[in-house]
Amino acid sequence: MAVAPSTPSVNAVAGPLAAADVDLVLVPWFEDDQPSSLDGLDDAVGGEVSRALESREFQAKSYEQFFAPVSQRIWRARRVGLIGGGPRASAGTDLIRKLAVAGGLAARQRRAARVAFVARGSGSPVELAQAAIEGLTLSEFYGGSYKTTDPAPAPPPAWTIVTLDGTAERSIHEAITRGRVLGECSNLARELANEPGNTLTPREFAARSAAIASEGGIRVEILDERQIDQLGMGLLLGVARGSNEAPRLIVFRHDPPGAPGAPTLGLIGKGITFDTGGISIKPADGMERMKDDMAGGAAVACAMRAIGRLGAPIRVVGVVPATENMPGGRAVKPGDILKSAEGKTVEVINTDAEGRLILGDGLWYARKLGATHLVDVATLTGACVVALGKITSGLFGAPPSWVEQVRRVADRAGDRSWPMPLFDEYRDQLKSEIADFTNTGGRPGGSITAAMFLKEFTGGLPWTHMDIAGTAWADEAKPYMPKGPTGVAVRTLASLAFETFDV
Ligand code: BES
Ligand code: MN
Ligand code: ZN
Repeated sequence: MAVAPSTPSVNAVAGPLAAADVDLVLVPWFEDDQPSSLDGLDDAVGGEVSRALESREFQAKSYEQFFAPVSQRIWRARRVGLIGGGPRASAGTDLIRKLAVAGGLAARQRRAARVAFVARGSGSPVELAQAAIEGLTLSEFYGGSYKTTDPAPAPPPAWTIVTLDGTAERSIHEAITRGRVLGECSNLARELANEPGNTLTPREFAARSAAIASEGGIRVEILDERQIDQLGMGLLLGVARGSNEAPRLIVFRHDPPGAPGAPTLGLIGKGITFDTGGISIKPADGMERMKDDMAGGAAVACAMRAIGRLGAPIRVVGVVPATENMPGGRAVKPGDILKSAEGKTVEVINTDAEGRLILGDGLWYARKLGATHLVDVATLTGACVVALGKITSGLFGAPPSWVEQVRRVADRAGDRSWPMPLFDEYRDQLKSEIADFTNTGGRPGGSITAAMFLKEFTGGLPWTHMDIAGTAWADEAKPYMPKGPTGVAVRTLASLAFETFDV
C-alpha cells in the first residue's frame, strides 16, 4: 500500500529498549523465551523477569500478564509489562495483533499515558509493526458513550512501536500508518454498529457514513426515496415500507487519478439500522441486538475511508442500502411480490429475510456503477451462526479462485472466515409458484440459500459474500476483544483494494 499522511499520535523507534521514553513498555513474551531473550530487559527490572519465570509466577500462557517497575537508571521507561503469547511457534501477526489489544487494554487500565509495544514474533518486522499498531488502536474503542455516571475513560495513550532489527525506517513508518488507519477505521465501524436504532436511523447512518468516508477523500452520494424509486429498487422500497423512517442508498466512489480501466472493486454492505423482522416479527428475547444489523454497511463505509486515506491504486465503488425493517401498517406481508431493479420478481415468504432483499438491489447497483469484482458483507443469517459459531464468518461465492483470494486477504487482516458450498441444487429451495423465486428456502442450509438468493443479482461477475451474523458482535469478553461490536471485515475490505486480482 502506498501511504499518505502520517498519524501524529504514533511513534516508531528501532531499539535499544533502554531509549524508549515512556511510562510502560509492553513485551510479548513466549513460553520458550529465556530471561536473556530481550537484551537488557531482565537487568532493567532488577532480575524480576528471571525470578517470575523461575518461580512460575509468570508462565507466558496466552494473555497472561506480568508487570514490574524498572529499577535501572539507564532505562527511561518506568514500567515493563510482559504479555504471555504461549508457544512462539504460533506467534504470527494475528497473535501479535491480539496481544497488542490485550496489552493496550491493560495499559489503559493502568492509566499509562505513553506506552511502547515491542513488535516481536514470527513474521517480517513490517508485518509485525502493522499488526501491533492495529491491535493497540483497537484497544482504544470505548462502547459506553451514553453513560452519564461513569467517569469518562482516560484518553488513549501515545503509542510507540519498537522494532528490534534494522529494517528500513521508512517501511516501518508506512506500516505503522497503514495499521493505524486500519485500526481507526475498524473502531469507527464499531461505533456505528454500537449506536442504537433510535439515534442511527437510515438518514443518520447515511449522514455519518458520508462524513466518515468523505474525510478520507471518498466521493459520497446519498440517494433518497424518490431517487431509489426512480432506479426501480422495489426490494429496498419493499423492506422500507413498514417504517416511518425513510430509506437511503449510500454510494461511495474511489476514483484515483491514473487508475487502470479495470478492475473496479464493488463493495456492498447490508444497512438495516434495526431489524424487528417486520410482519414476521422476531421474538422479544435478544431483539435489542438487531441494532447492529447495519454492521456490514458500516464495514463498507469505514473501509472506503481507509481506501481513500491510504490511496488504493484501483477504482472502488461502495453501495449501502439503508433502511429499518419494521411491521408498520403499510409493511410488506408474507405472500407479497416485489420487483427488483434488475427486473426479477420475488415472492416474500418471510419478511425477516430482509437483508437479501435490499442487497439484491445493492448488488445490481454496484454492477451498474461499473464494478467488475463484487464483495458483499452482511449480518445475514442466524443459520450461519449455527454453522460456524461466533469466531468465523461464512464465505460464499464464485468462482472459487475469487472466494479464496478474499479468504486469504481476510485471514491476514485478522478476520477469520471459511468457505461454504453453493451447489446449483440449493436453488431448488427458492422455487416459487407465482414469481421468479422466493426470499427463503426453509431451515436446511439457511445461510446457503440466502447466498443463492444473492447470487441471482451478481450478473455472473466474480462475487464473494461474507455472512458476518456471528462475527459482528462479541457476546463474551475475550482478552483481545471486549463484548460488543467487533469491526469485522473493515480491514479485509480495505486490504482488498491493494490486491492484484487473480480472476
Ligand atoms: N439480521 C438477521 C440475521 C441475524 C440473526 C443476525 C442473528 C445476527 C444474529 C436476518 O435479517 C434474519 O432475520 N434472518 C433470518 C432469515 C430467515 C427468516 C430465513 C434468520 O436467520 O432467522
Ligand atoms: Mn431479519
Ligand atoms: Zn436482518
